[in-house]
Amino acid sequence: MTKPDDSDWLIDHDYCGRILCGSYSLELKQRVAECVNQFRSLDHKNNPAIPYISAWSRNDSAIWYEYVGSRLPVLLSCHPRDTAARFTDSIVKRSIYVSNDNIEKNIKQKTIQGRKLSEKRLMLRRESEDNGFVEAVYKMRLDDGTKLWLKDQAATESFSNDNIYLSLGGLTCISMEMKAAEERQKNEKKIKTDRDRLAMLLEKQAKEIWRSQLEIIYRLTKATEFRDKQAGSHLTKMSHYCNIVARAVNMEEEKRILFFHAAPMHDVGKIGISDTILQKKGPLTAAEFSIMKDHAIIGAKLLSGNSSELMSMAKSIALTHHEKWDGSGYPHGLEHEDIPLTGRIAAICDVFDALTSERPYKKAWSNEEAINELQKKRGSHFAPELVDIFVKNIDKIENVQKNLRPASLPFPDEPQ
Ligand SMILES: [Fe+2]
Ligand SMILES: [Fe+2]
Repeated sequence: MTKPDDSDWLIDHDYCGRILCGSYSLELKQRVAECVNQFRSLDHKNNPAIPYISAWSRNDSAIWYEYVGSRLPVLLSCHPRDTAARFTDSIVKRSIYVSNDNIEKNIKQKTIQGRKLSEKRLMLRRESEDNGFVEAVYKMRLDDGTKLWLKDQAATESFSNDNIYLSLGGLTCISMEMKAAEERQKNEKKIKTDRDRLAMLLEKQAKEIWRSQLEIIYRLTKATEFRDKQAGSHLTKMSHYCNIVARAVNMEEEKRILFFHAAPMHDVGKIGISDTILQKKGPLTAAEFSIMKDHAIIGAKLLSGNSSELMSMAKSIALTHHEKWDGSGYPHGLEHEDIPLTGRIAAICDVFDALTSERPYKKAWSNEEAINELQKKRGSHFAPELVDIFVKNIDKIENVQKNLRPASLPFPDEPQ
């Protein structure tokens, strides 16, 4: 073991500390001399860690270096004796990496930076005294603006007779990795910002598209209203009746809202039917009824050629709201589940409202009479289970009848 007397040459050589030439115990001096000797042998370029020995007294806030490997003063551009001061002046961030369960992806970075770093310096030193080790990554900014990252791993030894602590460790320069990580984080942040901005833009555009689709519906239903004078409140009630039944069959919310807005377009094809038929005050002849039936196909054609879900649902309802459960309806004689659910629901709501509304050629039926008619045609005209659901929800239907202002349209409100 190196004796203190033998350490004179150490002091002459590259020793930059205080202990070997100060009034300290033999035990401490021997340990420092021994470590300086050992650490010098570890100071070569093939060792990624630069060995160092730092020391401090518990009574004093100052910290100093007993030994620093030759690459550190080069990295920090300072004399070995100024290493501690250079650290104090240049560290801008101190991080440790903690994992509670030793699973790498759960590693958390704990960081202290800026003014907090100088406030907590003493606390960090106490931590290393208690733990017996130091493990941290320092980000430094040197006077010339150079950024430097050093990983510090050291064991702390206590010499109570001298009130001195030694930190025996190595500093590894990890600037390349950390610069790459910082660059990656910067890119990820930029990608996230761009993605968020794009998502906001898309959401805004989707809202605008939705609003313009509702606008088209509003105008088309208005056009139907002009042609077919009774249509106004009929279209509004249809929306709400369809919404009540759709909710009762647990239709997916997004589809139900589309249904609510698409339902008033079911008779849009009446735009293509002549006034003599549309405005006739009396029952239609067979020939007139045959022309009237065309409104389903005309409506579907009017609403085709648009890829939006709303327009394709409106097209489907316009086309199928006169189909009958037993296949005797028009225009295609579809039956059972071949008729889309929205078409099956619309058929019931359409007939119920037509029956309970006054027409030039007939008085309004009571709800009871209309329900009897639905039940009579349960399984022939109408889907049986949907008639049952409609009847079961008659309170809600009556509520719409009572509260809806005539000729009011369900826009832009959403269904209740
Ligand atoms: Fe119709
Ligand atoms: Fe109708």
